[in-house]
Amino acid sequence: MIRTPLLAWFAAHARDLPWRHTRDPYRILVSEIMLQQTQVDRVIPKYLAFLTIFPSLESLAAAPTSEVIRLWAGLGYNRRAVNLQRAARAVRDLHDGEFPRTVAALQALPGIGPYTAGAVACFAFEQDVAFMDTNIRRVLRRALVGPDDILPAPSDRELLALGAARIPPGQGWAWNQALMELGALICAAAAPACRRCPISAGCAAYAAQIAAPSEAIALGAPDARPTRRVAERRETPYLGSRRWHRGKIIDALREHTALPLARLGPLLKPDYADTDTEWLRDLVDSLARDGLAIREDDEVRLPS
Ligand code: ADE
Repeated sequence: MIRTPLLAWFAAHARDLPWRHTRDPYRILVSEIMLQQTQVDRVIPKYLAFLTIFPSLESLAAAPTSEVIRLWAGLGYNRRAVNLQRAARAVRDLHDGEFPRTVAALQALPGIGPYTAGAVACFAFEQDVAFMDTNIRRVLRRALVGPDDILPAPSDRELLALGAARIPPGQGWAWNQALMELGALICAAAAPACRRCPISAGCAAYAAQIAAPSEAIALGAPDARPTRRVAERRETPYLGSRRWHRGKIIDALREHTALPLARLGPLLKPDYADTDTEWLRDLVDSLARDGLAIREDDEVRLPS
């Protein structure tokens, strides 16, 4: 049984994170979108700053998109800024400014997938729903199924069903926060701290490891020093990759009202030449398709 020790551990050891003090669906949505690809420590100041500038759904929905993209600086994955504002505008325009409460209606909002819809239903509306992010997936899989390399690998659908059946009625908020917290602080991907884990006694992966310690069971090396975290690796795109250049373009546009391609190019590539114009136009147009830029002839700017 993992429920009681997990909830007790969470009550005693949870980090004091700002979004755990609110049930405002707008604030929860902002936090969850930011947390999707950025680590907690980096999100906290950005989350607080964002809510100072855009304290309400209405203020975000009414803002020029360029301002939202500017405020997103330092978080990466800029498309999230545009999607967040699209969702806010949809709530304003289609739901009279009131967040829908069901997972299905939340998921129908633009840019909101099953994870975010579940997280808002649970963390804002305190519904007992199951959803999955990388931490929850890893914890449920190890605790309920077995070591990481167990075959056949459980599907997300199976894990969701297993997890849903274990939500303590009326305590979905604490349960899901606790699963995330355990995944972040104890049940790490590379080096789970099983000796400190509150649920090791009920953990399938731990039991397998104890039963066959000499086999190379992919629970990682318990309590070894963690290697660089997965999210950290994903945050920084490869230098010179398409994603890196897209980020550089948005960074340049944050600093300027509008930029001709001929001025933007050398900001990305010191040896930029006229022959690169097609490449640059193509990158800019991909940003335009994502709602992150506007190109008129050969001039580029952030969307207003
Ligand atoms: N990552 C995503 N959502 C989170 C939350 N509510 N608390 C901590 N980390 C998270």
